[in-house]
Formats: sequence, C-alpha cells, structure tokens
Amino acid sequence: MTEYKLALVGFGGVNRALAQLIAERNQQWKTELGLTLKIVGVTDLFLGSIIGRDGLDAAQLASLPAAKGAFAQLPGGHAEALNEAVIKESGADIIAEATFTNPVDGEPATTFCRWALEAGKHVVTTNKGPIALHADELKTLARRNNVAFEYEGAVMSGTPVIRLAKQTLAGSEMSGFEGILNGTSNFVLTRMESGLAFAEAVREAQELGYAEADPSADVDGYDVRLKVVILANELLDAKLSINDVSCRGISALTLADIDHARADGARWKLIGAASRNADGSINASVEPRLLPNAHPLAGISGAINAVSFNTGLLGAVTVSGPGAGRTETAYALLSDIISLHNTVASAQE
Ligand SMILES: NC(=O)c1ccc[n+]([C@@H]2O[C@H](COP(=O)([O-])OP(=O)(O)OC[C@H]3O[C@@H](n4cnc5c(N)ncnc54)[C@H](OP(=O)(O)O)[C@@H]3O)[C@@H](O)[C@H]2O)c1
Repeated sequence: MTEYKLALVGFGGVNRALAQLIAERNQQWKTELGLTLKIVGVTDLFLGSIIGRDGLDAAQLASLPAAKGAFAQLPGGHAEALNEAVIKESGADIIAEATFTNPVDGEPATTFCRWALEAGKHVVTTNKGPIALHADELKTLARRNNVAFEYEGAVMSGTPVIRLAKQTLAGSEMSGFEGILNGTSNFVLTRMESGLAFAEAVREAQELGYAEADPSADVDGYDVRLKVVILANELLDAKLSINDVSCRGISALTLADIDHARADGARWKLIGAASRNADGSINASVEPRLLPNAHPLAGISGAINAVSFNTGLLGAVTVSGPGAGRTETAYALLSDIISLHNTVASAQE
C-alpha cells in the first residue's frame, strides 16, 4: 500500500470534489487500489492557502465556506494564495493542478506545472491550457525529472479518451478522430431540435449552469479547438498549434437548418476532428457538420460528449460519457493518480 502526499492548486469545483472523494473513499481505495491520498497543502487565489505536512482533514477542506480568504479561518491557514510554497514546500509527492484555463498562453497553470516537475513532483491536471500550448516542454521536463505528467481530464473530463486511445488502442492504426467535445454546444443543438431558437437555447444552458455568462468559448468552437489540438498531438503525433485548426461554431445555425436536416434524416453537430493524410500531413477543424442519423455521433444528445476514433484494424471505435462536472473531472485526477501509481509500482518490480 502506498500513501501519496497531495497538494491541490486551485480549489474550485474540481479539486474541492477531489477532497470530498478523498474524505469519503480513502479507505475503500486502500483495499481496491493499493493507495491512499493525504492532502498536505491547498492553494487558491480566492480562498487563500494552507500547508499541513502531517495531513489536512479532507472533509473539513471540502466543506470550507466559499468566502474570500477562508483558509485563514483554519489553524495555520493564510488568506493569500501561497502557490509556490504549497507546490515546493508542502512535502507533496503529487500536485493536482486545477486552476482556470488560459487559452492564450496557458499561464499561470504552466508555471505551476513547471515548478512542480522541476521539484521532482508528479503532476496531474485537468487544465487544457498547459497541455494544448506547452505539452512538449512539460513532458520533457517530467521525463528529465523522472516523474509523471498526466492530464486525462483535459479533453473529456472523467470519460477516458487519451489513455484509452494511446494505450488500449495502441497498434490499431489510428488515422483520425471526430468528436462532440463540448457539452454546452451539443445541449444547445439538442434544444434547437425541440424548437428553441439559438438565443433561447443558450439562455436555457446558462440557467442550467452549462454555459458561462459569455458563451462564446463554447458555441464559437474555441473550447473544442483546444481539445482538437490536444487529441491530434497526442494520438496522431501531429505538431499542431491552435492556429493550425480552422474554427467555426454553431451560432449561425437556424431552426430552418435544423428542420431541413431532420427532413433529410440527418442532424447538425459541432464536430472537432483531425485526420492524417496519405502524405502524413494532418487536417484539423472545428465546424458544424451534418451527420446522417446512422453516424455513431448523430445520436449523442444533450450535454454528453463523444469521440469516434477511426482505426485501420477496428473501424470506428466510439466512446461517450460526461465531458464535464466537478466529481466527474475529479475522477479524471484520480485516474491519473492510479496511472502514475501503476507506473511507479511496475518500475519498482
Ligand atoms: N468543471 C469541469 O467540469 C471541468 C471539466 C474539464 C476540465 N476542467 C478544467 O479544470 C480546471 C478547474 O475547473 P473548475 O471547474 O474547478 O474551475 P473553478 O471552479 O473556476 O476553480 C478554479 C479555481 O482556481 C483558482 N485560481 C485561479 N487562478 C489561480 C491562481 N493564479 N492561483 C491559485 N488559484 C487560482 C480560482 O480562483 P478565482 O475564482 O479567484 O479565480 C478558482 O477557485 C479548469 O482549468 C477547467 O477548465 C473543468
């Protein structure tokens, strides 16, 4: 049995849900997975920070009031986010990075990952920014320091995509993928099929908490574009940057378009896709596509995500599941920790 010391960077929905899972399931993991997690530090721009090298109470952390500087209420806590100290000096073996996604330069999350990897700590993250923009550099840093860098949750939250494709489908001769990689836009399209106009459907998505006040990252395709870059680089060994992926969202689709599609036995979906051409080059795009009803992605409704891998030996292999959610995304961090635990264990055999 291995006990890992964990520091949480960013304590919003995802890392708080991870603390809750640890509070509820650590004993179960001990017998089921051969590991337990001890939280030794937490830091968050809004809540402040705390270090407890002998272990903090995960249930108490998970129920901390969402108030500015709230960590200062706990013994040894601070109202300020002492990010560098929590990453480097809390004694953590693993850093769980879950701060906000910056699609422009990936900061400050990339710096947090760098600090951790350079200090010889494993990193697990759900943040698309560092992976879409700086994956090569961070992977090299991890290798050089002999630690793991895992990011399963960055594309489809807890639904397995990256390890599934890279490990379980290794050797299947993957030539590309197509995905519904944004739950909000798929929800909006599904509601438009029930007769709501685009603006009404977006408003409903906002009321249900699926869409931000500014929904453009979701409905204009920018969120999907980051995920296409990540998947294409991971699975097709492409060397894409964001500007290599053409991007068009769903805001120009009308109810008439939806009706015409239905009459033709088809559905509009926002598809993020990449494929390898015969000469080895890669085409990658985000765009609304008209899919015949028999297509594996046509029946994916509501906020669900799905990706269909095109393989030479199996044909299309499709996986669908939640693409967001606090507990679902916290599960992705757990799956990263399980993966690094298995790697560490097999290296010691
Ligand atoms: N939630 C999901 O369903 C989901 C799914 C897949 C991936 N992700 C990704 O996972 C990450 C976390 O998501 P979330 O839902 O937990 O977000 P969240 O609720 O907004 O939490 C992020 C937390 O990080 C804090 N933070 C921001 N900048 C920081 C900094 N410089 N130093 C320390 N803390 C900082 C934020 O504080 P402030 O509020 O003061 O800014 C906030 O409390 C994001 O990158 C997101 O894109 C989320």
